[in-house]
Amino acid sequence: MPGFVKVATKTDIPPGEMRSFVVDHTQIVICNVNNKYFALADECSHDSAPISDGHLDGDQIVCPRHGAKFELLTGKVTAHPAVVGIDRYEVKIDGEDILVMI
Ligand code: FES
Repeated sequence: MPGFVKVATKTDIPPGEMRSFVVDHTQIVICNVNNKYFALADECSHDSAPISDGHLDGDQIVCPRHGAKFELLTGKVTAHPAVVGIDRYEVKIDGEDILVMI
């Protein structure tokens, strides 16, 4: 049943960092940009690289394999070689907890 699931606490993901989690059989990456949290599918749409091995670039995440970029807020592609976006998930903060809608 869809709903928000607690995935991490704020201390798990310091500002400027990201971490990968498995939630309900789905690999996701949660990114912290200036204490705003974003959750995306942790799989590049170009050649399936785990984008959590890449890095953050402002409000975008950069794939480690060939450098495609995706907007953290929407999952849309902003730089090739990927042409299709990746799934993004709604995030809710409850005190110190980070919850994600899967
Ligand atoms: S696998 Fe991500 S850009 Fe190629």
